Amino acid sequence: MADGALARLDSYRWAFASHRVLTVAARTGIFSRLAKAPASLEELAAALGIDPFATAKIVRALCAMGLVTAHGKEYALEAELVEWFQGDERDQVAGLEHSHDLYDGWGATIEGWVRTGTMPPRKRSAEGVERFAAAMRAGAARHAPEVARALDLRAVRRALDIGGGTGAYAVHLCRQNADLHAVVLDLPPVVALGPANVAGSGVGGRISFVAGDFHQPNFGAGIELSGFDLALLCSIIHQERPDGAQALIHCAAGSLAPGGRLAIVDFSIDDEQREVLSSCLFAINMRSFGDTYPEPVIRGWMAAAGLSDIARTDFGPSRWMFAGTKIA
Ligand SMILES: C[S@@+](CC[C@H](N)C(=O)[O-])C[C@H]1O[C@@H](n2cnc3c(N)ncnc32)[C@H](O)[C@@H]1O
Repeated sequence: MADGALARLDSYRWAFASHRVLTVAARTGIFSRLAKAPASLEELAAALGIDPFATAKIVRALCAMGLVTAHGKEYALEAELVEWFQGDERDQVAGLEHSHDLYDGWGATIEGWVRTGTMPPRKRSAEGVERFAAAMRAGAARHAPEVARALDLRAVRRALDIGGGTGAYAVHLCRQNADLHAVVLDLPPVVALGPANVAGSGVGGRISFVAGDFHQPNFGAGIELSGFDLALLCSIIHQERPDGAQALIHCAAGSLAPGGRLAIVDFSIDDEQREVLSSCLFAINMRSFGDTYPEPVIRGWMAAAGLSDIARTDFGPSRWMFAGTKIA
């Protein structure tokens, strides 16, 4: 970080450009190609069918960002990044693709939202649902293993993942415990993609999907979800206003057996909500329909829902988990 307020202002003023370089490097295949092997600029452009002059500028910017290194005429992806661009379930291209969409959305709507508190209604196309689900899978592939490890799953037989998308977290929970069965609840167009997503995971037979709506009492008419040892709300409460988040925590706690645990994983933020930049920005990403909630607020909601022994686990500088036990 450059010294001085004016220098900081200048670096943030150009933050949009760094972000676009990242997403374009992902969308054109530059990251994935360099993850396979180092290449010269000519080889890279020819392999990807992209403009050599523009490729050189993007790759030079990636070097300046510390993501690519020059070795003579060849360019190599930084070693730490190579495993994240292998085209497997952990591949980060989908997450970057999603942030490319976010960039467009921010450009089009943030100023209007700040002026009026409203924004145009957003309806995701079927392709948009798949792109969002793919981005969530990319994020889960990165974060779910540490969440699964942090939860002591030895005694868990039945787990409910509320808003669990296409089952990425459920896969990691099941991999931690061979006796664990997971139910994933999400909206109908999302759960429709679930079985195919978990089919090759080796644990798909222990994961079932329920189409529901967590804004409805008990997740929707005719849905019976109760007696779980573990319920997960992962990246869910930030999508809600305070009343909605509290109601959701109450509903999740209601799905537990006595002694069961509720785990809430989300972006972390300081109590005054003004120190963790990425979480402050994420709160803006939620516009008027969600927020990044501080610890005392989350603890208060959990306690009010009848949960005790609430413990916090930190995952890096901007994610955390609160787990609490339903009082028997
Ligand atoms: C930010 S994603 C998190 C997905 C997953 N838990 C994870 O961490 O990767 C939010 C999820 O909530 C689901 N969702 C949103 N509104 C819902 C609702 N009313 N009922 C059920 N699921 C909902 C979305 O479809 C999406 O899969």
